Amino acid sequence: MTPLTLDTSLLAPTVTPAQIDQLSDQLATTHRHLLDGTCPGADFLGWRDWPDQDHHQLLDAIQQAASRIQQQSQALVVIGIGGSHLAGQAGLEFIHGSYHAPHVNGLPVYFVGHNLSSRAWLEIAARLRHQDWSLNVISKSGTTLEPGLAFAYFRSLLEKRYGAAARERIYATTDAHTGLLHDQAVGAGWSRFIVPDDIGGRYSGLTSVGLLPWAVAGLDIAAALQGASKAKNDLLSNLNLTNPAWQYAASRYLLCRAGKTLELFATYEPSLQLLGRWWQQLFGESEGKTNPVIFPATINYTQDLHSLGQFLQQGSKNMFETTFYLDEDATIPLTSSDVHHTWPYLDGKNLDFVQKQAHLATLQAHHQGGVPQLVFHLTQTSEFTLGYTLYFFEYACALSALLLGVNPFDQPGVQAYKEEMMRRLQE
Ligand code: PA5
Repeated sequence: MTPLTLDTSLLAPTVTPAQIDQLSDQLATTHRHLLDGTCPGADFLGWRDWPDQDHHQLLDAIQQAASRIQQQSQALVVIGIGGSHLAGQAGLEFIHGSYHAPHVNGLPVYFVGHNLSSRAWLEIAARLRHQDWSLNVISKSGTTLEPGLAFAYFRSLLEKRYGAAARERIYATTDAHTGLLHDQAVGAGWSRFIVPDDIGGRYSGLTSVGLLPWAVAGLDIAAALQGASKAKNDLLSNLNLTNPAWQYAASRYLLCRAGKTLELFATYEPSLQLLGRWWQQLFGESEGKTNPVIFPATINYTQDLHSLGQFLQQGSKNMFETTFYLDEDATIPLTSSDVHHTWPYLDGKNLDFVQKQAHLATLQAHHQGGVPQLVFHLTQTSEFTLGYTLYFFEYACALSALLLGVNPFDQPGVQAYKEEMMRRLQE
């Protein structure tokens, strides 16, 4: 049984099953180019076979580092941005929840370096004053401004606190051979983990980039890779339109052609919001190189039904929704007499039942309001399904971007603001 399934039944009338079927040959060709390495960006296909490679040594090294961090520290600070940040934090919330359940088998992890906010950095610094801590700085290039500045700041705090012994508390995740961070790490003798040459930032969540913070927080990282491996085997060998990644890529392609150029990734779980942010980066940075193309955005229900729900029902008609629904039962019975007095029909029901009806009602209302609906169902949240989900969207995104005719693995457009910012910083 696959942990993630896709329901496309509410795409019609905008997109019909017959239209999706017609894309079958195009999908098969695109898939073949991904497999034989003849697609644009083929130098960055390392993520494709990553879950099935022999990672025993890597997992041992990560577990050893995680145990050392857990023994020496009460918290880990992780510095990184974009692909060097989102999968790590999204994975922790996927498992531990958005209110950060007590870390029974691991440490709290604070993510910084994904903004330039003095307020945020000072807030974390104040928390660290009364606890022992270690630092994992992640940057593939080693030259990104935000994590670079955050590293300079938090490293100086660490050195003030521990002196020369700070060296034992710094873990650098970066390129194997080059870059400022690589050179610093080699020079200072910090523990090093590698971002593989052939895996780009937003595709690197299942490498040391995500695995080290997850291990420190107590997650079962071997299970995450097993989940990714299952996704790989399910998806790469299923060469027809029963493959949900093919259905997803085809649906998005046709929706875009039909003028639906805004995709809302809707979740009903606060603990899945960051997964949405990770998905948003994956698709936004991979596909946003042509016009028209789909703008990916995230939305959280039922909260946003009370704000953006109005807009979805009657506002612009350039949108579609992709709901990522968690079927897992973690239910709260509705027992209080207040509930039964105010809503007598809920007698004997539970909170999951209410959420499910809100979801089904939203699907129907928004569909009738002209917003096509895609619905993913996830059976449960576990490390296995985390790995499965990340791999699923990595593959689906590559397929989708290639269908659009763009290279999924580069990001030339981000240079424009960086060059202007550097000019201003040097004035
Ligand atoms: O997907 C990408 O390549 C980017 O989002 C990068 O991950 C992000 O810019 C951070 O880069 P780096 O890891 O080099 O600091």
